[in-house]
Amino acid sequence: MTAQMLEHDAWQAEDASAAVLDQIRAMRAESQTRRLGALSELGMEPPAVQRTTWVGDLQQGDGGKGAMADRLAARHQIIVRVQGGDNAGHTTVFTGKDGKERTLSTHLMPSGLRHPGTVGILGNGVLVNPERFAQELADLQATDPDAGSRVFVSDRCHLVLPLHRIADARQESRKEARGQAIGTTGRGIGPANVSKVNRIGVRVIDLHDMDLVAQRVRENIAFFGLDEDQAEHDLDFLMRHREALLERSADSMRLINSLLADGYSVLFEGAQGPLIDLEHGIYPYVTTSPTAFYSVGSGSGLDPAAVQNRIGVLKVYQTMVGNGAFVSEDQGELGGRLQAAGGEFGTTTGRPRRCGWLDLVHSRWAVELNNYTSVVLTKLDVLDSFERIGVCVAYEADGELIHEFRPEHRFLENCKPVIRYFDGWQCSTRDVTSFDELPEAAKEFVEFVGTYLEAEIGGVTKGPRDDDMLVRTGTALEGVVQG
Ligand code: IMP
Repeated sequence: MTAQMLEHDAWQAEDASAAVLDQIRAMRAESQTRRLGALSELGMEPPAVQRTTWVGDLQQGDGGKGAMADRLAARHQIIVRVQGGDNAGHTTVFTGKDGKERTLSTHLMPSGLRHPGTVGILGNGVLVNPERFAQELADLQATDPDAGSRVFVSDRCHLVLPLHRIADARQESRKEARGQAIGTTGRGIGPANVSKVNRIGVRVIDLHDMDLVAQRVRENIAFFGLDEDQAEHDLDFLMRHREALLERSADSMRLINSLLADGYSVLFEGAQGPLIDLEHGIYPYVTTSPTAFYSVGSGSGLDPAAVQNRIGVLKVYQTMVGNGAFVSEDQGELGGRLQAAGGEFGTTTGRPRRCGWLDLVHSRWAVELNNYTSVVLTKLDVLDSFERIGVCVAYEADGELIHEFRPEHRFLENCKPVIRYFDGWQCSTRDVTSFDELPEAAKEFVEFVGTYLEAEIGGVTKGPRDDDMLVRTGTALEGVVQG
């Protein structure tokens, strides 16, 4: 009897005999083989050493996770996004096959898919804007015609519809009038999550049944109080993008678990950062997704214990886009100088980012929350020209010294930064090729940050390019990027 012909009676037998269990195992193996069929067609072989890695941020989310994921993608084959949507903006800079420098910006697709033999998966926790999906898929295919077959989207992903963007804009302008705007990216992410939680969302899998979709769209229109004509518009929009999404859809939980069982290396690319995590961030100035490490579990269905490496990126100064308390913010000359030197404008919205010295008080809280196995200090080169470099080591409020971060807007608004200064190194680090060659003052700064955070500083980046990372020998990071 084949697995497919398993007798109904056998299922109902009181004691599941060894033969029945064997048949169940065979059925599982068969469906796993079917799932992996698409991947074996791509000629992927598991690596000699399997790695499972998550890349997250320690701040708001603009520390260079995309570039880091792109660097690590060279050592992983499967790159999975688990949360957020096209509110994220990830930039990678690398030398193309023609020897010319190339810059790739993505908002939705996992970073690093330019590496041959990589597969991208949007896990169930990602909110998918179908138009962005189509556009970024086309961009990928322009560089590699086969790239389309290397991208999968969870059939459980919720979709961001044009109606959600309208609702986002309306809510923000109402709040703005009361001086309470969040400063969202305007990508409709908050309202799309509201639909999801309110059980009126449209998922990829729902696109098989357009009657159901039409009913859900109308429920959304009523819920958000939008013009009824919008329903027609959104249904047309979904009809245009439906096929492309269904064609790439997969049961991503099973797919990822099968890939792990088969020994492939999997990289989870975080989006946004802990300061705007829905559960732990500075509520209400947060995004509406989980952004901390725990998002791997909810956004992929995978047991997070399977992730060996948790790499955190920490920009060596502080930035923020949108509203909310920012203790070390400098609205004067220093902030302007950091903004200009670091090119601090939002990748998604182009908004100028607010800037200030690195806030170690909250970075330490981020370490506590995410338990990174290694932290990479990014954009070190931005500080190259500074005469002295500050780090916020404590807060002061009502005459008291505070060392413990509390993600509460009112509390933080009342805090003043206590800054410790270091001598600047005042020379370019752009051409340095190893960590040990860095100027002594830069190494001292790195050492201090590691000691304060009680975390490994695995290396630094001193430019946006893929080869601009200096890894310290003997660190956990070295184990992830080498071999
Ligand atoms: P939303 O995610 O568009 O709803 O925006 C909510 C808050 O999260 C705003 O303060 C945004 O500026 C912020 N935000 C969303 N995505 C990112 C990101 O990728 N980097 C930094 N901030 C972000």
